Amino acid sequence: AEAQEAAVGRFPFKPVAAATDHTIHVPEGYNWKPLAKWGQPLFSNVPDLDPTKGVSVENSDKVFGENTDGMELFVVGSHQLIAVNHEYVNPETNLPHTDKGNPKTADDVKILQNMQGVTVMEVAEDEDGWKIVLDSPFNRRIHHNTPMKLSGPAAGSDLVKTAADPDGVECLGTFNNCGAGRTPWGTYLTCEENFNGYFGTTDAAFKLPDDYKRYGIVAETRYAYEKFDERFDVAKNPNEPRRAGYVVEIDPSDASSTPIKRTALGRVKHENAAVVIARDGRVVVYMGDDERGEFLYKFVSNGIYVPGGDTSKLLDEGTLYVAKFSDDGAGEWLALTPETTGMKIDEICVFTRQAASKVGATTMDRPEWVAINPVAIEAYCALTNNSRRGEMKDGKLRANAGGDAMAINAANPREKNEYGQIVRWYPENDDHADGKFKWDLFCMAGNPTVHKDAYAGSSNINEGNMFNSPDGMMFDSTGLLWIQTDGEDSNEGAFAGQGNNQMLAGDPATGRIERFLTAPKGSEVTGQTWSGDKRTHFVGIQHPDAPFPDGEGKLPRSTIIAIKRDDNVKIG
Ligand code: FEO
Ligand code: CA
Ligand code: CA
Ligand code: CA
Repeated sequence: AEAQEAAVGRFPFKPVAAATDHTIHVPEGYNWKPLAKWGQPLFSNVPDLDPTKGVSVENSDKVFGENTDGMELFVVGSHQLIAVNHEYVNPETNLPHTDKGNPKTADDVKILQNMQGVTVMEVAEDEDGWKIVLDSPFNRRIHHNTPMKLSGPAAGSDLVKTAADPDGVECLGTFNNCGAGRTPWGTYLTCEENFNGYFGTTDAAFKLPDDYKRYGIVAETRYAYEKFDERFDVAKNPNEPRRAGYVVEIDPSDASSTPIKRTALGRVKHENAAVVIARDGRVVVYMGDDERGEFLYKFVSNGIYVPGGDTSKLLDEGTLYVAKFSDDGAGEWLALTPETTGMKIDEICVFTRQAASKVGATTMDRPEWVAINPVAIEAYCALTNNSRRGEMKDGKLRANAGGDAMAINAANPREKNEYGQIVRWYPENDDHADGKFKWDLFCMAGNPTVHKDAYAGSSNINEGNMFNSPDGMMFDSTGLLWIQTDGEDSNEGAFAGQGNNQMLAGDPATGRIERFLTAPKGSEVTGQTWSGDKRTHFVGIQHPDAPFPDGEGKLPRSTIIAIKRDDNVKIG
């Protein structure tokens, strides 16, 4: 009974019902307000966006970008700074003067390039709520043309040299910034996910290099950068896409600092980067690669983190590992080294997926965010779904682009897995740097009102909390796991009763999961962080349908919202 009471105490809110409408619902006693919307100015000399007209090229790097995603809040002296990703753009809405968003000029391409990347902005709270602090010296946009450094084993490699950068150490831009992370030394980690979509060519005679296939790099792109900006034409710059797909470190406290691409953490379609310090002080970074049948990774630094000490090499020197989940509940981290892969170290850092295929890693159901429990030695990864798991094609099991078959396994146990699951692991010796772990499934999402078999979900899924496609995940400081979804919101068929995408809280100790928030139709919930005093929970609402958040007759805008309790107590 005591344990039950403690479990109830873990959920200081009355869960909300599934919803299918165009607004946000939070529990009784909570409220929400928009903090930052697509196109909102960061500087006072820039007008607010009129979504029917789009943004001018001059202002496009001075406003909050589109499609808010992973974020972190940093307290710097008396300032609160949010660093936040802008994953992608909708060309139609950003270029309303064009035919279906097809760029007509180099300026059109520049607008698309500027509306993606990262925003660093100072935020502050007054009696009306949270606002962007206009003209703050911390405010900064990082986009597809921002100068960056390449560091780690691939820096200077022939694989990343271009005509514009013959040394292979300086590049421009960060791409498809999805999830995020933070280091104990106060920097932001932004993660490049579907970078393949930005590089192409109009040269029909150009033969795409073999390594492109594993990452889905093809000749034709939606954004058509290659037609107006030759850096993105792979026939002219075949190494350019090999300079994207990394975890990028940004110092939010210095708007003039140069972001650093940390190649030691591998080149994959990075979801997020969850950082924890091992028992002996080494830095451990867990990372998902979000594609059907790709893998889960871990980086362990050689050096020790010393507060106030030199951190500049910690994410450059270390070992990258890939996860193997055995069906008996054990698991191990397989090192990716020249000895284990037969590849050179720069090749491992650039062709990381190929390296991982050589060591026998477990194909996963699209590894999205990893979250690390701050009050127990364990970590979680959202495996969002995998419609092709276990499927046969031409008498053979479906495989990832490297040919690794997606057979059913205990950690990915469901054929044509349309709901997803959350896997949890417990490092051996209570040490995140250990090479071995035990694992279990925290939950199998499902629909118990439609199915009675394995597709109903695990025992902690019920009619009142069901969802599909877990994606964003983060622990608050009390050890509650906040789960965000990016799934099917038709509310029909296999998804009947699940409503719109949502955010739920899960208790690691009991497995109990309750719904905290429902999002506007069409949107996914992605990215979250808390104010310095933990009285505000910031949450990202990406790609809503109209009329969110500006009301009837207005075009939709991707938005960060600020959630508080009416009595202003701590909620994180
Ligand atoms: Fe951008 Fe895998 O989410
Ligand atoms: Ca995601
Ligand atoms: Ca998404
Ligand atoms: Ca997703």
